[in-house]
Amino acid sequence: EILDAGARPLEGRTAIVTSGPTHEPIDPVRYIANRSSGRQGHAIAAALARLGAKVTLVSGPVTIPDPSGMTTLHVETASEMLEAVTSQLPTDIAVMVAAVADWRVVTSADQKIKKQPGEAPAALQLTENPDILKTIGHHAQRPQLVVGFAAETQNVEAYGRAKLERKGADMIVANDVSPETGVMGGNRNRVKIISAQGIDEWPDLSKEEVAERLAALIASKLSG
Ligand code: CTP
Ligand code: CA
Repeated sequence: EILDAGARPLEGRTAIVTSGPTHEPIDPVRYIANRSSGRQGHAIAAALARLGAKVTLVSGPVTIPDPSGMTTLHVETASEMLEAVTSQLPTDIAVMVAAVADWRVVTSADQKIKKQPGEAPAALQLTENPDILKTIGHHAQRPQLVVGFAAETQNVEAYGRAKLERKGADMIVANDVSPETGVMGGNRNRVKIISAQGIDEWPDLSKEEVAERLAALIASKLSG
């Protein structure tokens, strides 16, 4: 669908976008995290704002600047991200782009853990983090449109479809993040849009172009 330049079809709508990684502390100086620059999530937040949406961006620790024209809430851990997202409900649109750490350390140490030279370190005891997308997809105040991402290194379509179902999303943007694709940390992305209507494969695009197209698709889904 092609939108007129300057059209603001999301005027009057609100959106929450998560972006970046989360950091799960091991001790005051060490953490567990996923690789994520925040570029794709921040670009989507900016594209939704350009179409007129009132956007709240919930960002994990990233080095890129806060986009203009929206509120950015800064968080560190998955638990903080969930709290920030639920604090913004109700909302019309939720796009969960963050690379949330799947696990956190059960009890992070108050003091820096010292290495014992020549000795193996104690194993870290991990526990599962809350699934923000799944929580929002099944929430009593579920947004009208819930969009998730699926970062996969294999079986992109099958895993993407499973996530659509499991997380209660309307749409999953699935991408192959295996190292040879250069998607991680890069400027380009090649995604498949998975929904109940089927799968749409987009060509190789810049992350800004993916964001533009996704924002336009979201606007058309909400209007139609
Ligand atoms: N997600 C989330 N909260 C989590 C984990 C994932 O909100 N604790 C969201 C991501 O932002 C993304 C989607 O769920 O929109 C899929 O994330 P992904 O890591 O691909 O899926 P997982 O369900 O965590 O499964 P796995 O990592 O095992 O593939
Ligand atoms: Ca995950």
